[in-house]
Amino acid sequence: MRLISSRKIRDGVELARDIVAGPPGTAPLLRAGVKLSSRYADLLPKAGVGSVWIEDELGADIEISEPLTPETRAKVHKGVSGALTAANTALRSGSGMPREVVESLGDVAESMVNDLLDCPEAALALDDLNAFDDYTHKHSVQVTLLGLLIARRAWQTDGWIDYRGRRRFDRIDDRMRKLGLGLLVHDVGKLAVPPEILNKPGRLTDAEMEIMKTHAVAGVELLRPADLSPLSLSVVRDHHERLDGSGYPEGLFGAQVQEFPRIAAVADVYDAVTSERVYKPAAPPHVGVKVIRSGSGGQFCPNIVRHFRAVVMPYPVGHEVTLADGRVGVVSGVSIDDPDSPTVRVLGSAGVEELVVDMTAERVAAA
Ligand SMILES: [Fe+2]
Repeated sequence: MRLISSRKIRDGVELARDIVAGPPGTAPLLRAGVKLSSRYADLLPKAGVGSVWIEDELGADIEISEPLTPETRAKVHKGVSGALTAANTALRSGSGMPREVVESLGDVAESMVNDLLDCPEAALALDDLNAFDDYTHKHSVQVTLLGLLIARRAWQTDGWIDYRGRRRFDRIDDRMRKLGLGLLVHDVGKLAVPPEILNKPGRLTDAEMEIMKTHAVAGVELLRPADLSPLSLSVVRDHHERLDGSGYPEGLFGAQVQEFPRIAAVADVYDAVTSERVYKPAAPPHVGVKVIRSGSGGQFCPNIVRHFRAVVMPYPVGHEVTLADGRVGVVSGVSIDDPDSPTVRVLGSAGVEELVVDMTAERVAAA
């Protein structure tokens, strides 16, 4: 199978995976195996489905695994929807989020962690969460998945440093759960930001930006009654802090930014760049990777970026790439050691051929 932009759907294209535009458990909008017509090129983007997995000659034998089991996906959806509803109610009544809602999100985080720990692959398809209905919901889940993948690799490879400065390899699961919970609620304070600012097409004015920036502290306030661990809470409060001091709300600098928000910052920015919004189309993964790479050592922690680069491929398997000569191909293989040189399938005069393509130099070499 391979992934194409919904806008590129032509008559007769075969769908490789169900398209679910509502909560898990509801009937899919379209089922795997169905032949699409070109009118979906118009309809699906309007339904928030920016890309679809299709089956054709170029994508034959390419298998993409899903990071979460269907049970976990359903649990995540229910938990995050419930939390967002509870947060809205809490905002209206001026109270905080009920402790039991946040505790149930802890179970959700745990299920996600368990799925990921069972899944040996380093690089996963993250762009397959069309099932989640609104942006804050979808963004929260995707950032959580990506943050957990980065953390898993970072801690399993390098361990983590405790408050005494000792490097440790124990209690990684527990840290993953705390990080997952923080990531799931990292943007909950956005519910306190007026929707016209949150969804404004184009640039925010300075005054609007100041309102937008309140979401980090608003999130901490909302979560106060829930008694979150300080590690989880650091994600909510500091995920917009940057190592070079350019972030908010405090403008923290260097070591003042803890490890959890460092991970959250990378996952959050990558997802924002590569997500479709009302005011912008999704940028491809290599653009998201470039943004993170160029911020390494400035805004972002170089060590976290190093692990990010091992879990997020700029040219992921199943994605389309355009070669220097204008031909469009599909990535059929990629290596962590040289992620900028994927193996690409193209349709040539002799049928399907595979090439190793150095995407940075745009040189094409026969495989
Ligand atoms: Fe945020």
